Amino acid sequence: MNYEVKNKQLLAWVKEVAEMCQPDQIHWCDGSEQEYDSLCELLVKGGTFQKLNPEKRPNSYLAWSDPGDVARVEDRTFICSIAKQDAGPTNNWVHPKEMKKTLTGLFTGCMKGRTMYVIPFSMGPLGSNIAKIGVEISDSPYVAVNMKIMTRMGKKVVDILGENGEFVPCLHSVGAPLAPGQKDVSWPCNKEKYIVHFPEERSIWSFGSGYGGNALLGKKCLALRIASKIAKDEGWLAEHMLILGIETPEGEKTYLGAAFPSACGKTNLSMLVPPDHFAKSGYKISTVGDDIAWIKPGPDGQLYAINPEAGFFGVAPGTSFKSNPNAMHSCAKNTIFTNVALTPDGDVWWEGMTDELPAKLTDWQGNEWTPGCGRNAAHPNSRFTSPASQCPSIDPAWEDPKGVPMKAFVFGGRRNNVIPLVYQSFNWSYGVYLAATMGSETTAAAVGAIGNVRRDPFAMLPFTGYHVADYFNHWLQVGRTTPNPPRIFSVNWFRKDANGKFLWPGFGENMRILKWIADRANGRGASVESPLGWMPRYEDIDWTGLNNVSRDQYQELMSIDRDVWKEEILSHEELFVKMYDRLPKEFLHIREMILSGLWRSPEHWEQYNPASAEGFND
Ligand code: GTP
Ligand code: SPV
Ligand code: MN
Repeated sequence: MNYEVKNKQLLAWVKEVAEMCQPDQIHWCDGSEQEYDSLCELLVKGGTFQKLNPEKRPNSYLAWSDPGDVARVEDRTFICSIAKQDAGPTNNWVHPKEMKKTLTGLFTGCMKGRTMYVIPFSMGPLGSNIAKIGVEISDSPYVAVNMKIMTRMGKKVVDILGENGEFVPCLHSVGAPLAPGQKDVSWPCNKEKYIVHFPEERSIWSFGSGYGGNALLGKKCLALRIASKIAKDEGWLAEHMLILGIETPEGEKTYLGAAFPSACGKTNLSMLVPPDHFAKSGYKISTVGDDIAWIKPGPDGQLYAINPEAGFFGVAPGTSFKSNPNAMHSCAKNTIFTNVALTPDGDVWWEGMTDELPAKLTDWQGNEWTPGCGRNAAHPNSRFTSPASQCPSIDPAWEDPKGVPMKAFVFGGRRNNVIPLVYQSFNWSYGVYLAATMGSETTAAAVGAIGNVRRDPFAMLPFTGYHVADYFNHWLQVGRTTPNPPRIFSVNWFRKDANGKFLWPGFGENMRILKWIADRANGRGASVESPLGWMPRYEDIDWTGLNNVSRDQYQELMSIDRDVWKEEILSHEELFVKMYDRLPKEFLHIREMILSGLWRSPEHWEQYNPASAEGFND
């Protein structure tokens, strides 16, 4: 041990795990730059990392994973509560005793021939009373260096733990022991994978994968699945949300949280660059977090949010200087890239990074790639791991332990039809309903079919660590006990026309919608009442500098099709029947309220038409 550890529980746990996993060595991570550099060097020697050209991409590395280990594995993810009904209908469950038995079998001797890294980390600013400490034990140096970027990691965390401090034990192994003299592969992993949470014990065991949310256990496992359970017990919220700030030319600052499913635009929205007209008139967007928010009631009756992470694990494909310059600047140096393509001059490339395709590349599987070869150069779920401090739009308060006051919550999925561009919920309970019944097309962020619409309540379907109906009730309870709760909105950037073309330009242009949301959250901004909620009329959106969204196109973006919505409501039912015994009673009333709005006469509907200014006087 290269520093003093006084925490008895930690010492005992490390000893116990070492006896089970039988590593060759134990390395206690101190979190220093020297340690980071030497681990990266080790990864280069072992073939996991390639050092990128320091002139193009200073202090940065590229890793290519095993082709069978490229994303979260939801069907191998388990919530092992003591009672099956506490995991609920949306989680895989096995009795904790049985699961421990299986896992103990798998973990016994699993680190033979490897070094076991002890990685102490803090989710949230060090020493803050809302931060939580975790310790990850992992046999992957790739995990150790990623955790250094993604969390506050190292000796300073052990110092804060002191003798008796509490931590969440997070045990991870790639599940690939080495026989004496056996040469390691560049991305060790196991076909058999288990991502397991014990919510009552507050511990995590992850076996067989080295990738992202399966292996960086502070992120989805601790900060969402375990934290959501702690939050339920303690009266706060742990959410799959970005946090951003909107500043008006007058200096009014409004913070909001937005929950979109994986690979549906959180990183992009959190780093939005306002269009010229907005920037020139003095509007600013700042980034507090891009993936996870911990939200607590403050003394003034508002909710306050912190970003528990210290880095971004961002989707690479589609990221460009045009779509997200702040992300491009964030990953300009000191970055680990996973599963992107390599250029002949030692830099990285991915689909959508540049308009012009490079003449030649090495793809994420190490094969030669040329334009038109019929394969992706980068894996669709390839990622960059970058320090949040490198983001040009990072908010001055991003590390404030108090958090930032939340004025609005925005929920959105990837829906090619059905859901309008934006609307505001009538009240908190209805906001909870619209978030609970949110649907989204599946993406490459998880293994499985892509493009199927599934219900993804609160963008938390794969991340709620307990019964999903109890989670809805918890949200309703937060509304009852919060004097000044955020206003709730629905957005959909992904609506398409009959030819399959996106109707909305998205990205920076989303600013126009954010401005309306901020105005509404601050009690300003006109709107009309639609069957689904309050909607901005065409004239309530600032269109300066954007010429290609006509009134007709706006009408298409905002339209609510009665027949389609009758179907949509029936599909809410599919979710509700699964949680029949715990469904909030409000939900049935809200469903009836939406239906009654949908059933009003067509003449009445024409009046709702938000593209027409006639007939409305706010
Ligand atoms: P996770 O890190 O998996 O949680 O994803 P995320 O929610 O942060 O998604 P991200 O911002 O990385 O976006 C994922 C994909 O959505 C990228 O391919 C983007 O190009 C695309 N995208 C993001 N914003 C928009 C938008 O406003 N319009 C359209 N059409 N696509 C978008
Ligand atoms: C997501 O899938 O929502 C991610 C990436 O943010 S991972 O860390 O792999 O979960
Ligand atoms: Mn995410």
